[in-house]
Amino acid sequence: MEITKVAIVGLGTVGTGVARLLLEHGDRFTRHAGRTLWLEKAVVSDLKKPRDVELPKGVLTDKLSDVTGNPEIKAVVQLIGGLEPDRTIMLKLLESGKDVITANKALLAEHGPELFDRARELGRSIAFEASVAGGIPIVAAIGQCLSSNEIRSLHGILNGTCNFIVSQMDHHGASYDDALREAQRRGYAEADPTMDVDGSDAAQKLSILAHLAFGARVHWRDIPREGIQNLQAADLKFARELGFRIKLLAVAQLVGDQLELHVAPQLVRLGSPLADVRDAYNAVRVVGDAVGKVWFHGLGAGQMPTASAVVADLIDTVVGRTAITFRTLELWSQRPARVAPRDFGMAESRFYLRFDVDDHPGVLSEITGILGRHGISIASVIQHEPTAGAGDAVPLVIMTHVTQQGAADKAVAEIDKLNSVRGRSVRIRVHE
Ligand code: NDP
Ligand code: HSE
Repeated sequence: MEITKVAIVGLGTVGTGVARLLLEHGDRFTRHAGRTLWLEKAVVSDLKKPRDVELPKGVLTDKLSDVTGNPEIKAVVQLIGGLEPDRTIMLKLLESGKDVITANKALLAEHGPELFDRARELGRSIAFEASVAGGIPIVAAIGQCLSSNEIRSLHGILNGTCNFIVSQMDHHGASYDDALREAQRRGYAEADPTMDVDGSDAAQKLSILAHLAFGARVHWRDIPREGIQNLQAADLKFARELGFRIKLLAVAQLVGDQLELHVAPQLVRLGSPLADVRDAYNAVRVVGDAVGKVWFHGLGAGQMPTASAVVADLIDTVVGRTAITFRTLELWSQRPARVAPRDFGMAESRFYLRFDVDDHPGVLSEITGILGRHGISIASVIQHEPTAGAGDAVPLVIMTHVTQQGAADKAVAEIDKLNSVRGRSVRIRVHE
């Protein structure tokens, strides 16, 4: 039986899962790859750190040159995270003749064009299934299985940490801080969890999917995005009362010949598939012109689900499948973008608005007057009796009919300046 030597660079949450799969389920991969995948080296930064996997003697090293200098190692799984030194290490690996497998969406969303051009020049490949939605095979689905379609839209829950936090707050009454700590403990969060909770991680994944699905060339920083860091228990409660849950959604949809893109918390209807996606699960709904609606659901973060996608990429790489798709897909190539982004101000939606207002006569009409002047029509209003100890401030919740994002932003900014309105108001899109 042929043996192909492989290496891992980065043995943290995901790297450990990959090592476990390779060492404990070698037979399975021999069946799928038609050869033995031999873990030759695992590169880490700290040799003294305890590891959750028992590696054969001589495998662990802190020298990248043990991999780059070994021509017998053909493919390398790179699982460090962040931009540097990950970018430099990937270039070194490619230049030393290795095919690379990564889960690092931040790196691809930032340096994809440079890295993919270099890999193509060198006749090497980069596989990245695990970079979006963890264990869900969404990259292969869009890049290969749905390639007979024109993709019309893509709606996704793409960040496991955020979905876990919101689920813990919504279903178990957990505080935001406790839920975030637990997501970190379980290995879902990025080294800097700000990237998760402020919507950056989901925007990076959306930029990769939008490139694959629509040929868009939108830098993730140019995708309008909001995170969950300001989400309050009160909004989860009002959303339920109105028949919704709140989820951090990433959206890419064609409107005419332009692409609307955004990441933001949104109200999704109770009973809809997106509302039922809990904990670290991710989901993606893709609409294609031939296939119609297709749903994907699975764990989007965590050690073994992510390792599952990484090792599948490793098998595709060593048997030569990745090289074919890598060449034919021409990702981040010199080809012109197929679609231009749409001005987010024109994106239409219903909105959930919450204002903390003085419980005085005339306040409601001041607010509805401003909404009316911006052409925003009201669908429903909730104002409960003041609760004991809340002073004379009451929450006022308004659901609007469909309007444009720009109109809602301007109206809310104007309302926030009213003397009768306390603090900053809440404005959340409604996904229908
Ligand atoms: P961790 O922080 O858990 O692990 C990072 C690893 O990189 C550590 O083992 C660390 O070594 C090693 N490392 C750091 N610097 C170097 C270096 N210069 N040379 C060699 N090794 C180095 O990260 P994760 O496993 O959580 O994530 C890895 C990647 O996968 C990230 O890009 C992340 O976004 C992505 N990802 C993560 C998911 C998850 O659920 N965690 C899901 C999907 C994608 P040491 O142990 O010695 O400190
Ligand atoms: N931090 C990421 C998340 C890991 O929570 O979704 C998976 O990409």
